[in-house]
Amino acid sequence: MPHLLTSPVALRGLTLRNRIVISPMCQYSATEGRANDWHMVQYGRFAVGGAGLVIVEATGVTAQGRGTHGDLGLWDDAQVAPLARICEFVKAQGAGIGLQLVHAGRKGAAQRPFHGGAPLPLTGVDARGETAWPTLAPSPVAIAEGWQVPGEMTLADLDAVRVAFADAARRAVAAGFDVLELHAAHGYLLHEFLSPLSNLRTDAYGGDAAGRMRFPLEVVSAVRAVWPEDRPLFVRVSAVDHIDGGLELADTVAFAHALKAAGVDVVDCSSGGILGAATAGRVPRGPGFQVPYAQAVRDEAGIATMAVGLITDPAQAEAILAAGQADLIAIGREALDNPNWPLHAHRVLEGEGFAHWPPQHGWWLERRAALLRG
Ligand SMILES: Cc1cc2nc3c(=O)[nH]c(=O)nc-3n(C[C@H](O)[C@H](O)[C@H](O)COP(=O)(O)O)c2cc1C
Repeated sequence: MPHLLTSPVALRGLTLRNRIVISPMCQYSATEGRANDWHMVQYGRFAVGGAGLVIVEATGVTAQGRGTHGDLGLWDDAQVAPLARICEFVKAQGAGIGLQLVHAGRKGAAQRPFHGGAPLPLTGVDARGETAWPTLAPSPVAIAEGWQVPGEMTLADLDAVRVAFADAARRAVAAGFDVLELHAAHGYLLHEFLSPLSNLRTDAYGGDAAGRMRFPLEVVSAVRAVWPEDRPLFVRVSAVDHIDGGLELADTVAFAHALKAAGVDVVDCSSGGILGAATAGRVPRGPGFQVPYAQAVRDEAGIATMAVGLITDPAQAEAILAAGQADLIAIGREALDNPNWPLHAHRVLEGEGFAHWPPQHGWWLERRAALLRG
C-alpha cells in the first residue's frame, strides 16, 4: 500500500510526485541578487534526490528588501535567466520548483549568518568591506538594540513594495517556477505588519487585526492577480510569536481564512522571529514542534498546510500526513545533511530497492545491493 508521503498530490494544475518539499534555505551566495552555479547545484541535487517540490530560498523583491548582500533577488530582468536555468534542470528531474519571495523589512542590511549575522554599519564598512542600506518597516522601531531604526513606510512606500512583489511574481513566471511562496514569517516585512509587536501604526495599516492584515493581504492579491490561475500560491507564516502581546494561533487562523479567500492554496506553518535572534529558543524545540500549528490552521481555516521544523524521519513524516495534521512535509536541514532524503524515505516506506532512483545512480546501487546480499 503506497504511503501518503510517497503519493502524488495535485495543487491547482500542478501534480507533485510526492509530498516531500525542500524548505526554502538562503544560501547567502548570490552576487547582486543573481543566482550562480552554487544555486544550480544546491537546488539541482535536491531534485535528483527525489523531492516532490524544491522551494528556492527567500528572494528579495527589491534591493532594499534583501536580508544580506548575498541574497537572491528578482527586482531586475537580468536576474531571471540564471533562475530559469535552475527551473529547467529541476523540472527535467521530475520535481516541481517553487520560489519564495521576501521583503526583509527591518531585518535587512545584515551580515550573512555564518559571518556573524550582525547588522551592517550604516557608516563605513564591516570587516568584509560591506556597508548597510536604509531599511523600511511598518513602524520606526529597531528589531533589537544595535540594529538600525527602519524608516516608517509611507503610503507611497507601500504602493512601491506591493508593485515590486507583483513584478517579481511576473519575473518568476518568466523564469518557469511552478509555485510561488510569499514569506510572511520570521520577522520579515509582511510578518512585521501582522504582529502587534512590530506594527505600531495608527493608520488603516495598523491597529486591530484587520488593519495589521491589510498590507499582507494586498500583497497576496497583487501577486495572485499576476500569478497564473493554474499555479499554486503558498504563504509562510510565523503561526505564533511566542512573546507576550504578540501573534497567537487564533490570529493566524483568522489570517489563514483571509488567505484562503484571497486565493492562497497552502499555508506553510513556521513560527517565531519577530524580535530576531534574541527570541531564539524560547519555545522548546523537539521533533515536529511546529506540527500543531499546521494542524490547527488546517482544521480551523479549512486550508491545506505544510508542516516544517525538525521533521527528520520518514515514519514521522508519514504519521503527520496520516493523522491529517498537514498536507505537505517540508524538510530543511535534514536535506542539507542528506539531499537524497526523499529517495531514502521512499525506500524505507515502500521497500522498492532503487527502482525509482535516477538510473545514473540507481542501476549501480541495485547491483551493489545484490552483491552485498551475497
Ligand atoms: C541555511 C538555512 C537557511 C534558511 N533560509 C530560509 C529562507 O530563505 N526562508 C525561510 O522561510 N526559512 C528559511 N530557513 C528555515 C527553514 O526553511 C526551516 O523552516 C527550518 O530550518 C526548520 O526546518 P528543519 O528543522 O527541517 O531545518 C532557513 C534555514 C536554514 C538552515
